[in-house]
Amino acid sequence: MKRFLILSCVFFVSGMFSLPTVAADDEIQSLRGAAGIEDESAAPVIKHWAPDQEPIERDYVQQPPLVPHSVEGYKINRKSNKCLTCHSWTRYKEAGATKISQTHFADRDENVLANIAPRRYFCDQCHVPQRDAKPRVKNTFEPVPAIHQP
Ligand code: HEC
Ligand code: HEC
Repeated sequence: MKRFLILSCVFFVSGMFSLPTVAADDEIQSLRGAAGIEDESAAPVIKHWAPDQEPIERDYVQQPPLVPHSVEGYKINRKSNKCLTCHSWTRYKEAGATKISQTHFADRDENVLANIAPRRYFCDQCHVPQRDAKPRVKNTFEPVPAIHQP
């Protein structure tokens, strides 16, 4: 057993040191791309918000729904929260928006508060607006059948 443990330690440590050499240097690119250290990097292309659409189907039950509309200029700060002007329980009917979930009124100790919990205040921490960007990595994730009819 002892020998086995020592051997696995040796493999683990040597594995740690050999990892960086697995990917060839030219495969690794920083966010600046292949631009040399002295060169100016190309200006990033500013992507547009995806056009407003119907609510987007969820991929798993606990997923914070994706934002199906543009959020251009929607500020969230200490004084005001633009999202709540349409999504709060007092405003949602008039705006035709979904009201924020009941879960958003509970703090981390599950105490139910009279107003939105501070940990849910910054909506875009969890609800992701959409842009016309191609996924960087191919994803073959399939939602579970319970929420998605194939
Ligand atoms: C001008 C009003 C308005 C503002 C401001 C607004 N929304 Fe919306 N939002 C809507 C409407 C309308 C819908 C679509 C409801 C429908 O069609 O069922 C919607 C849908 C959504 C949904 C999808 C809900 C679902 O069940 O799939 C999310 C998430 C959302 N908004 C998040 C946000 C966030 C985050 C902000 C702030 C950055 C925000 N909204 C600001 C009006 C607004
Ligand atoms: C910490 C993550 C988090 C934050 C911050 C957050 N939400 Fe959510 N939201 C969720 C999750 C997860 C769900 C889905 C499960 C649920 O209903 O709790 C959800 C659900 C919703 C829904 C759909 C409710 C329904 O009945 O289908 C709306 C609308 C929404 N959130 C709006 C907002 C708005 C507006 C804010 C900011 C004021 C916000 N959320 C902040 C995680 C978050």
